[in-house]
This record gives sequence, structure tokens and C-alpha cells, in this order.
Amino acid sequence: MNKERVSIPRSNDASASSSAQLLGAEASQAQPIGKEAAAINGAARFYKAAAIDDLDEGTLLGVEVDGESVCLAKIHGAICAFTDNCTHISGPLSDGELDGEALTCPWHGAQFNIRTGKVLRGPARADILTYPVIVDGQTILVGLPEG
Ligand code: FES
Repeated sequence: MNKERVSIPRSNDASASSSAQLLGAEASQAQPIGKEAAAINGAARFYKAAAIDDLDEGTLLGVEVDGESVCLAKIHGAICAFTDNCTHISGPLSDGELDGEALTCPWHGAQFNIRTGKVLRGPARADILTYPVIVDGQTILVGLPEG
């Protein structure tokens, strides 16, 4: 699993820094979080998505992040974020069934790996988008592509 630790200085306390777990496969290095609780790493802008206590091990949580439907999941203590829309005909993946890293869409049974986004079983043919995640204290931040 791709996992590294990064430090995110808080904009309102330049002397303090907190450790954050960078759990997404695509994120590189976090930058300071501004007042809007977003961090920019050149490829993604990070937004508050949920509190760490909102997500139990092995469960799914649908959230809206900057107008995007995002699904969060926690497996083996790691948090994954990916689109909440199935690539078949937009079934709500947060209503699906999670078995390890395999998520089954509730509408027609397509299956995806939530860590890689890869299709494991049709009828969906396209992979789902996955997003980088930073855990900053009790807050889950999700990075959406810029632009
Ligand atoms: S909408 Fe997900 S399998 Fe059809």
C-alpha cells in the first residue's frame, strides 16, 4: 500500500504542524491548508470531506465534495475516496456492498477495486475515478483534480 507521512502546517499557527497520513495513490506532497480548508499540491485541491469518526472500518460513506459525489471507504484502517457514480449508468456506489477492496454496485452488480478504481466485473467497462486522501487530525481531506 502506498503510504507516506506528510506534515501540513496550519495557516493560523505557523509554528505548529500536524502529521497527516497521505493515503491516496496519486497525491504527491501536501501544501499548507488555507482558511477554506483546502490544500493544493499542483494536481489536486484538497477539501474537507468528513470527520474520521464518520467512517467505520469496512463501511461506505457517500459525501458531496465541492459539488462532486464522492464515496469514502475504510479498509484495514486506510481510507479510500472514489466517485460515487458507477461507470455503467451512474448507480450510487455508496449504496453498494464492500468485500475487502471489492465494491459491488447495487444496481447491476458491476464490481470495482476501490483502491485502484479498476473494473473487476461488468457490466461496467470503464474504471472509476479514485481521489487522493489526507487525514489531518480528525479530518478526512479529499483531493479533487484542478480545472
Ligand atoms: S449502474 Fe452500476 S452496474 Fe449498472
